[in-house]
Amino acid sequence: MIYQVYVRSFLDSTGDGIGDLAGVRAGLPYLKKLGVDGIWLSPFYPSPQHDHGYDVAGYCDVDPLFGDLAEFDLLTAAARRLGIRVLLDIVPNHCSDQHPWFRQALASAPGSRERGRFHFADGRGPDGSEPPNNWHSMFGGPAWSRVTEADGRPGQWYLHMFAPEQPDWNWRTPEVADEFDQVLRFWLDRGVDGFRIDVAAGLFKHPELPDSPDPEADARTRDSVNPLAWNQPEVHDVWRNWRAVCEEYTARDGRERLLVGEVSVPTARDHALYVRPAELHQAFFFDLLSAPWNADVFRKVIGEAMQDIAGTGSTVTWVLNNHDQVRTVTRYGEPTPEGSGLGAARARAAALLMLALPGAAYIYQGEELGLPEVVDLPDDVLTDPIFRRTGSRARIRDGCRVPLPWSGQASPFGFTSGAEGARPWLPQPDYFAEYVTERALADTRSFWHLYRDGLQLRSRLPQLGDGPLEWLDTPPGVLGFVRGAGPLRGDGLLRGDGLVCAVNFGTAPTPAPVSGTPLLASGPCPAGVLPGSTAAWWINDS
Ligand code: NOJ
Repeated sequence: MIYQVYVRSFLDSTGDGIGDLAGVRAGLPYLKKLGVDGIWLSPFYPSPQHDHGYDVAGYCDVDPLFGDLAEFDLLTAAARRLGIRVLLDIVPNHCSDQHPWFRQALASAPGSRERGRFHFADGRGPDGSEPPNNWHSMFGGPAWSRVTEADGRPGQWYLHMFAPEQPDWNWRTPEVADEFDQVLRFWLDRGVDGFRIDVAAGLFKHPELPDSPDPEADARTRDSVNPLAWNQPEVHDVWRNWRAVCEEYTARDGRERLLVGEVSVPTARDHALYVRPAELHQAFFFDLLSAPWNADVFRKVIGEAMQDIAGTGSTVTWVLNNHDQVRTVTRYGEPTPEGSGLGAARARAAALLMLALPGAAYIYQGEELGLPEVVDLPDDVLTDPIFRRTGSRARIRDGCRVPLPWSGQASPFGFTSGAEGARPWLPQPDYFAEYVTERALADTRSFWHLYRDGLQLRSRLPQLGDGPLEWLDTPPGVLGFVRGAGPLRGDGLLRGDGLVCAVNFGTAPTPAPVSGTPLLASGPCPAGVLPGSTAAWWINDS
């Protein structure tokens, strides 16, 4: 289980209201207690922060906002001592418009080697004032911006699948691949255990950059896929090369390295291609995250993943929350400022379900506290470029990025070590007082204890290791499966040693699939009954 640390919102050691690497180091004992195997650090590289670090101006350094390389080394050393692996977030699809190579490209002529590292193209129309094609940016608006040439006249356009401050690299230029090879080695030499790869189905675009047949569909959701801009076959060569680099380091010191890709592709079968043996070790399977709270949908997406990904011998990587998505407590419930009881109960049940599935699991900071999405941030504090580009709050991501509450009764809730009155970069609502870690640790009914207990069992019980999942015959609205039991007996009884996980998606109680008391449940769960919006684990002793 890997814990995603969104550095700017984890813990602030300097009192500027922004989390930093020293803050992450200070939080490691907390993460150890929770039982994480590793952490993924969101980007901390030099960046103008137009997309909170996903606009990288230099790939081999630390932005002073977050610390420096010496602090980074202290963090990795401390993590190593605690047995926590460290994954960095690497952003190969695009950089920042402040990256020196993009600055050079702007200062160079059309057709130059410097421009060839990006996608520069002449505009359409008599005066070149129309973008070179009709692609949309994932953050709204056109995927192209026009530059002013050295002579002061409007000139070529450059491609940015995200914000204009994030020009896309041209991976058809070998220099780009070589540069990233060096970046990987820089961090591997510094001892990191691997990388979370941003937009791992990106990088290559259709070589002709043709118009999209359905640009409106491409733009409809953030995770929609323009088939000309994503999932091009050439990208798999990159992952084979990166895997080879990782293996080279493992061969040297015996330590495993991990590549996990952010892969948004149309089907589980497309997905499976990214986790073939010589490519990425893991790729986030987002279909579970996008599934509504519905037993049939959950069963379908889990079934597809088991068949099309696990069935090919690869690992499925489950995730319910991250820094781009509305938090589960709110997503599964009512969008009230405080979240809702129902949303919280469902989020707890979903967590137990995820932890019982075969494969890897990622949790996003605050998920272990049951934090709701902050849905009522005022417009003037929003920082998401999606808000700036679309003018709409519909897809904004600030609400899941509000700094963590650690202690006390009022903001900054121990998040910042600054003097009284230090302000976190996004305002924390008063109701965060209920979610502070110090309270969660003290209350055995908290989300934190559920995650901690689930993780402990997951690492102790052989049934929850790799291996298949057998579906149980359950009533409508209930999902149930057995892990580690081998084939079910013909008479419908379960083998004695399986771990049974069942989730009741409805609100009314249903008979439990196993008679005894559960080993762990997401809510009160008497023997023989599975209450509504509840998940439970039993060792089947029949
Ligand atoms: C995916 C990241 O998770 C998201 O936060 C970012 O805005 C885009 N990629 C662009 O880098």
